[in-house]
Parts: sequence; structure tokens; C-alpha cells
Amino acid sequence: MESTSQIKKIAILTSGGDAPGMNPCIRAVVRYGIANGLTVIGVDGGYSGLIHGDFHEMNLRDVGGIMQRGGTILQTARSEEFRTQNGQRKAIRQMSSEGIDALVVIGGDGSLQGAMKMHAQGVKVIGVPASIDNDIYGTDMAIGVDTALNTIVDAIDKIRDTASSHSRAFLVETMGRESGYLAIQAGIVTGAEMVLIPEVETDVEKLAKAMDEAYRHGKSHCIIVCAEGATPHTTELGQIIDGMDLGFTTRISILGHMQRGGKPTAFDRLLASRFGARAVEFLIAGQSGVMVGLDGNKITTTPIEDVTTLKRVVSMEVYEMANILAR
Ligand code: ADP
Ligand code: F6P
Repeated sequence: MESTSQIKKIAILTSGGDAPGMNPCIRAVVRYGIANGLTVIGVDGGYSGLIHGDFHEMNLRDVGGIMQRGGTILQTARSEEFRTQNGQRKAIRQMSSEGIDALVVIGGDGSLQGAMKMHAQGVKVIGVPASIDNDIYGTDMAIGVDTALNTIVDAIDKIRDTASSHSRAFLVETMGRESGYLAIQAGIVTGAEMVLIPEVETDVEKLAKAMDEAYRHGKSHCIIVCAEGATPHTTELGQIIDGMDLGFTTRISILGHMQRGGKPTAFDRLLASRFGARAVEFLIAGQSGVMVGLDGNKITTTPIEDVTTLKRVVSMEVYEMANILAR
């Protein structure tokens, strides 16, 4: 199909922390773009690649066999230089010398801040939310969240086997430096005894009491899901609890980067494919400076300005529910 829009050549990059589902999104942008008569340029290594002109044209076959692969075939990066106006100018110059009309940025809140800077300087840009933390304003779900959650649930189910065989308490740390989303959801669906999140300072006495009660009520184990950003931090909390002489002996399990890897789930593949296709469609229709998002089951757009200035907060109602269901 010949493109009748002003957009003829688009570039795509992945930036910030990787998230499972970035590849299906790249695939969708490339295939939907080509189907609409566009030339699609892959940028290697996020904004750093944009600054250095690490570009290559992508064809239909370049994105074959990547649907089920975690990570990103375009590589991702964190670029300090891009944070500066000089770095952004270099990136804009590289785009115009390559004849690129618009940019698709797949990444987390930091990457979308970068997209906002490009938009403010007249670059046509569209954002796609991808971050396992699910802390991005303007979408119910970001790419990678569902896969990470399933990875966490799988890990906690396994940890529970050891916990109950040894009558132990486990502090299991999930990712989420600033958001308790993953910890709350994982806490609910694994039946954890307590969930600790960055948004609420941990009441150590209350936690100790809950652990003690669990022990006295004859529970065979005690699982506490701690988000990475909760205070006190998991390791410090472990030491405090160790010194409290509770019924359970305690172990700590930090799940770490395994949460960011692995095959994207069906949900993430579908979400990423829908986001990628609609991002291209919106660009062709003349939209710019927006991020695609999910609202219920509908794909929406939100101004990147809102995405970067408003905060997505976890639901305290769901958090309370997680702790009530644990009793
Ligand atoms: P994520 O997108 O996963 O949140 P980061 O916060 O590390 O990851 O951001 C990724 C990259 O986006 C940064 O390395 C930087 O190049 C760019 N970026 C982040 N914030 C800004 C900003 N305020 N201005 C310009 N670029 C930014
Ligand atoms: O992707 C976001 C995130 O998962 C945060 O929750 C975490 O703190 C961070 O990534 C760690 O990323 P890195 O090790 O790449 O700096």
C-alpha cells in the first residue's frame, strides 16, 4: 500500500530497562509500517544509537522469529548524553540527515521523558509504554508487566515449597524501586502473608506480630512479598526480624533481573502487537507527542506531556485487600 500521509520514513528504538514484549512490538511496528508503505529504520541502542546514527533499514524478515523472545533485538541503553540539549540536537541532526520523519520510542517513564524533549523540539514522536513496574501514567498495563508477574508467581510458588517443608518465613523481593504494583498483585495471587511497598513505610512491629500470629495459628510457612523500594530494605528488614526471636526462621530471596527476562506471555505479545500497530496508525493519521495506552480493552492515546508530569499511583484499596486476604 502506498502511503498518502506526510510520513514516509519512521525510526524505532527501545530504551531504558528492557521488558518482555518489546520484540513483538518492534515486529508489529515494522510489519504494520511496511504494510502501509513506510520505510522503517531500526535504531540500535536506544537514544545513544540515535545520537551516533546507528541506523539500519528493517524488512519483514528481520522481525521473523522474535515474537517469543524476551529482551530487545534493537538493544536498549541508558544515555547520559541524550539528557543534555547538545545530545538531543545531535540526535535530531542524525534523524534529519537520514530523512526520518517520525520516531517510535518503546520504553519506560525515563524514555518517555526523552520522547517529550524530542516532541518539544518539533520531532514527530509517539511513545509506547514498556516497563515491568507498571508505573506509567496513561495506560492500565505497560508491555512486560504480565510476563514479570507470571515469573514472580512461578518463583514464589517454588519458594513456598521450601518454606512450608522447613516451616520458614521468606522475605521475597520483587522489582519496583518506586512502585508496589508488582508486589501487590503477586501478593494477592500467591496468597502471601503480607505485602510491603515503597508507598507505605513498613511498620516492623506490625509485621512481626503478623508473622508471630501466623506461626501460632499453625501456618506451615510465611511469605512476605517486599517491593524493592520498600523501607526498610529487604536485607535490613531480614536482619531486624532475625533479631526478634519469632517462631519462624527467616530467609531472604531477591528475585532480581530474572523478572525482566523470558518469553513474553500471550497477554504481553498481544498488547505489544496492538500497541505497535496502533502507534504506526496514529502517526500516519498525523498524531504526534502522544503515548499509546490501554484503557480497559481499548487502545487510547495520552499526551506525553501528561504521561511525564502526572503520576500513576497504586490502588490503596487493592493493597489493603492483599493484606486482608492474607490472614
Ligand atoms: P526507563 O525508560 O526504563 O524509565 P531510564 O529512566 O533509565 O529508563 O531512561 C532511559 C533513557 O531515557 C535515559 O538513559 C536517558 O537517555 C533518557 N531520559 C530519561 N529521562 C530524560 C530526561 N528528563 N530528558 C531527556 N532524556 C531522558
Ligand atoms: O525496569 C524497571 C526496574 O525494573 C526497576 O524496578 C528496577 O529498580 C530497575 O529496573 C533496575 O534496573 P537496572 O538494573 O537496569 O538499573
